[in-house]
Amino acid sequence: MIKSSRLPGFYKLNLQARQQLLAELAELSSADLQALTGGIGAGDADVLVENAVGVYALPFAVAPNFIVDGTELFMPMVIEEPSVVAAMAHAAKIVRSGGGFTTDSTRPVMIGQIQLLDVPYPDAAIVRINALKSELLAKLEHLHPTIRKLGGGPVDLQVRKLEDTPAGTMLIIHLLMDTRDAMGANAINTAVEILAPELEAITEGRALLRILSNLSDQRRAWAHCRIPVGALETPELPGEKIAQDIVVANAFAVADPYRAATHNKGIFNGIDAVALATGQDWRALEAGGHAYAARSGRYQALTEWQVEDNHLLGRLEMPLAVGTVGGLTKYHPTARLALKLLGNPDARRLSQIMVAAGLAQNLAALRALVSEGIQKGHMSLHERRKLINNDI
Ligand code: MEV
Repeated sequence: MIKSSRLPGFYKLNLQARQQLLAELAELSSADLQALTGGIGAGDADVLVENAVGVYALPFAVAPNFIVDGTELFMPMVIEEPSVVAAMAHAAKIVRSGGGFTTDSTRPVMIGQIQLLDVPYPDAAIVRINALKSELLAKLEHLHPTIRKLGGGPVDLQVRKLEDTPAGTMLIIHLLMDTRDAMGANAINTAVEILAPELEAITEGRALLRILSNLSDQRRAWAHCRIPVGALETPELPGEKIAQDIVVANAFAVADPYRAATHNKGIFNGIDAVALATGQDWRALEAGGHAYAARSGRYQALTEWQVEDNHLLGRLEMPLAVGTVGGLTKYHPTARLALKLLGNPDARRLSQIMVAAGLAQNLAALRALVSEGIQKGHMSLHERRKLINNDI
C-alpha cells in the first residue's frame, strides 16, 4: 500500500509524468500502465454485448489525498465532467485534516423478488410460507457453492401483501441472500427462478416476476467525516461560516426534492466515477441510491451535516451493491488496475471506499456553492477544454 496519498502539484505535471509518478508510488507494472491507455479491445466488446461495432473511451484520473479508515488511497475516477476530479481531491485534502473518512457497511445481502398473483387465501399463504421457510431455503442449498464456501448464501425469506394495486392483491416474496464479493444479480435471479414454482405449489398462486430489487437496502455502506471548521476557510470567508452554511444548504436538500435531486447528483458524481473505473453496474447503484433517498415517502438528501464543537460532521449512508468478482472486473484491464490502486478490496470495502467518494464530492459541491459559487472553478476548466477543442 502507498505511504501517503498527498501529492501536492500532481495536477501541474503533464500526463506522462503523472503516470510515471503513480507507477512509482503504487508499484504499477508496465502492463498496468498499458491498461491506462489500452482498455478493452474490439474482441472483448464483441463478447460483452450484442451488435458491438467498437469501443468508447473516457478519461481515467486519480484523486489524491484520500484517507479511508486510516488507509491512504488514490481514488480512481472515470468521468468526462470538468472540475469533478479537482473537487474530489480538494475535499479529500480538507477531510484528511480531520483524520480522513471512517466507514462501515452491512453484510452484502441482496434482495430478490417473486410476485405471486391469484393466491386464493393470501393470509393463509403467508402463514404457510413462513412455516415452510427452512424447507424453501434448503431448495437453494446446491446453488452457488463458491458463495457458500465464502460464508454467503440465502439468509431469509420475507412475505409482503400488496393490496389495492391496479391489478388487485398480490403477495411479494423477498429472498435475502448474502452474495459475498459478487454484485449478485445473476446469483439472486437464478435463486428466485428456482423458488418460484415451489411458492406456486404452496400458495396455489401464479408467479409472474422473478427478479432482484435494485433497492438493495440490506446492503448499505456509510461514511463519516469530522472536519475542523478552520480547514474550510476560503480567502473571503471564515471556516466557521462555511461550516454553518453547509448545514443550511443540506437542510434545503432534505426539505425540497428539486434541490435534493441536484444534491444527490453531486454525490453520484463521485460514486459513479469510481463505479465506472472499477467496472460496476452504475445504473444499479443510481437506482438503489435514488430509491433509498425517497424511502420516507419524500425524495430527500442522502447526506447529513451538522456543526459540533468547532467541527463540521458529515455522514452519507446508502445502498451500494458492488462486486469485485465477475462482471466487467474480469474483462476490463483498466477496471482491474483501478481495483489494484484501491488495494484489491473485497466488495464491502469497495462499497465503503465509494461511499467516502460520494461524501467527498458532496462536501466539495456544498463548500463551493456556499462560498464562491460553482461556476468559477467549473468554467476555468471548461475554458481549457474549449481551447483543446478549438471551439471558442
Ligand atoms: C454538478 O455536476 C453537481 C452539483 O450541481 C452538485 C450540487 O449542486 O450539490 C454541483
